[in-house]
Amino acid sequence: MRNTPRRKRYLVSRLNLSAIKAEFPILRREIRGKNRLIYLDSGATSQKPNSVMAAERDFYENHNAAVHRGAYQLAEEATELYEGARAKVAGFINADIDEVIFTKSATESINTIAYSLGSAKAGTRFHIRAGDRIVVSEMEHHANLIPWQELASRTGAELVWFKVSEEGRLDTSNIDELINERTKVVALTHQSNVLGTIVPLDQITAKAHSVGALFVLDACQSVPHYKVDAKALMVDFIAFSGHKMLGPTGVGILWGKKDLLDEMPPFLTGGSMIETVTMEGATYLDAPKRFEAGVPNMAQAIGLGAAVEYLNALGLDDIHAHEVELTKRALEGLQSITGLSIIGPKDLEMRGGVVSFAVQGIHPHDLGQALDQYGIAVRTGHHCAWPLMRRFKTIATTRASFYLYNDFDDIEALIDGVERARKYFQSR
Ligand code: ALA
Repeated sequence: MRNTPRRKRYLVSRLNLSAIKAEFPILRREIRGKNRLIYLDSGATSQKPNSVMAAERDFYENHNAAVHRGAYQLAEEATELYEGARAKVAGFINADIDEVIFTKSATESINTIAYSLGSAKAGTRFHIRAGDRIVVSEMEHHANLIPWQELASRTGAELVWFKVSEEGRLDTSNIDELINERTKVVALTHQSNVLGTIVPLDQITAKAHSVGALFVLDACQSVPHYKVDAKALMVDFIAFSGHKMLGPTGVGILWGKKDLLDEMPPFLTGGSMIETVTMEGATYLDAPKRFEAGVPNMAQAIGLGAAVEYLNALGLDDIHAHEVELTKRALEGLQSITGLSIIGPKDLEMRGGVVSFAVQGIHPHDLGQALDQYGIAVRTGHHCAWPLMRRFKTIATTRASFYLYNDFDDIEALIDGVERARKYFQSR
């Protein structure tokens, strides 16, 4: 394979990487000729192991029927598998089973909360009105920004935000100004999809709760990579997606505290979520069914259950330790390249395996295309975080993001690839 660097592997991992790679058929792909695929875009979506694809296939081949309805064997099996997947996801984040809602994506999970709060009637606990305040941050993915902008514009609430420091950290110096008795919702990312920054939550959740605000955590970039404990975090809602944690696309998770979910107005309405229906009106079931109208994404949820089993078998602690080593080497190697600057924390302190960078004189898209010629897949662009791009006075970055199936050769290939691209563009 052309792009395997000649440097010796000098770091060790707690993971058995050759066994892991063998479980991901796509990693045997050749790219642009004879280059092996070096997939460094897991922040966008992860690759899938055989067991996840097998679980989806098995469902369709052997158990396919609409859950929670039929009185026949297949329907019972489908329901058991679907509810079994819910139990696996709940265990993964230390939640109660009834607090786990299957949505189609993390984006839908966040929209579900925002829409639900926006449709709460005047005088009820969740009602949001003019003068109330919603707090986000400058480092949010659009999925955790636009639903709140919309909620603010529908209700007349005010949207305010934490700023981001030059180093790429959340600036909490004005927390007492931002979160006050008018604040109804604080919605923050757990880990920035651009900077890799992990947001320290304790001070902010404590402040939010002290004024009675709800705390919504966008955990898309954290849940796949390290232990997130729903009970320990002191948040009210957590949103994350299946496809970033080895699961299929088309399934996201909304976790919420049961007493809140049971009282909140539903988002989508229809079959499966009702308690009683007359021609004049309907009453609704408690969570999770309250938020799962229609025949759900059964195969995808079951595939996600298989992904959780795969992650549990490897162990999140070992996965995280491995990613820390990859990130350490990437930060060190990339920073040794002339003209390259990291956008985000430059050390390992409170950061995950997502590294954004800019190389002087090369447009990120050109760099991405050059890397692709060597088989290296990275994301380039604004990463669905325009305000953050503006904060750093840029329109785009190149972003490499790592996962359990990446090895140190992948990181060396990235460093070599950027260096080669730099020389190529400079010499033109
Ligand atoms: N949210 C995904 C990313 O950051 C798509 O790339």
